[in-house]
Amino acid sequence: MPLVTSKELLLDAQKQGYAVGAFNANNLECIKAVIEAAEEERAPVILQISQGAIKYAGLRMATTMVKTIADEASVPVVLHLDHGTSFLQNVQCLHVGFTSLMYDGSAEPLDTNIETSAKIVEIAHAVGLPVEAELGKIPKIEDYVDAKQADELRAKPASEQVSELRKIAGASVEKLMADPSQAEHFVKSTGIDFLAAAVGSIHGMWADIWPLRRDRIEELRNATNLPLVCHGSSGVIRTRADAEAKGIELAPNECTLEEAVKIGICKVNVATAVSMAFLKGAWEAWQTRRTEKDMRKILLPGLQSAKELIRGYMRLFGSSGRVAGSAAVAASEVKHAE
Ligand code: G3H
Ligand code: ZN
Repeated sequence: MPLVTSKELLLDAQKQGYAVGAFNANNLECIKAVIEAAEEERAPVILQISQGAIKYAGLRMATTMVKTIADEASVPVVLHLDHGTSFLQNVQCLHVGFTSLMYDGSAEPLDTNIETSAKIVEIAHAVGLPVEAELGKIPKIEDYVDAKQADELRAKPASEQVSELRKIAGASVEKLMADPSQAEHFVKSTGIDFLAAAVGSIHGMWADIWPLRRDRIEELRNATNLPLVCHGSSGVIRTRADAEAKGIELAPNECTLEEAVKIGICKVNVATAVSMAFLKGAWEAWQTRRTEKDMRKILLPGLQSAKELIRGYMRLFGSSGRVAGSAAVAASEVKHAE
């Protein structure tokens, strides 16, 4: 079916208390993994293209891949700009057929963020497209640890990783969080449709261990009444049971991804975890078939591994089963010609 806008999906998610997964479209195999999981799970889905993906594939190629696959999909698919950092970038994406935009003005002073967000909203709404904008700043893990420190941390038990990260990054993450007292003004003066609020997550984490801030999510939801977007979700601890199994203690004002969806997160962005699942699947296949000459036979297990991770997220978000119909046969399960 043709691409749909994110507005209809996220308003339904907000009303019904679930979230739509937004997965990054970094290459053909990842796009296929997302669509196959969505079709099998009967879940609406968002494929998003970041600045990095635009650099990697080129805007036209990345757009065409998503549009072509979405056209043949039996579930609603959104093509969303992820972290567009300029007015120009948003206009270019609108022009080539994106059905959802994002302006990330988190590096700008608040006034500039508001001014540019409002300009983008004006042109996007003129053609019926919704806009997400960022309040506060969602940091990335590289802001706190370099590659060597990250490797050392990753070798430790999850509970130790969290307590060390709390010491290294906790105060800074807290300081960067969206201020609920600015949220109403931000939303009213920009006219945005969804709020990407910094609520304690960190972009690019290697494992799902880190909590979100329940109090901030509730305050921002109450102040704006908009669907909220969780960025940096790969690193967020998924459930209470996971936290217990990993020995991670949550403070009373913290919550898991599953709980965050229940209190107002309607779009969950996952990128790093999908990339890592893909690499793991492909790496394991390569380890057992070192003489393989056909790259597709190594890439396909990567796709399958990413798909299973995405399926798990769709179930966690409650987006599975929201679309009528039965699962189509996944293209990746059809053996390609030798
Ligand atoms: O905008 C994209 C996301 O926030 C993805 O973050 O790579 O930490 O899952 P992640
Ligand atoms: Zn993000």
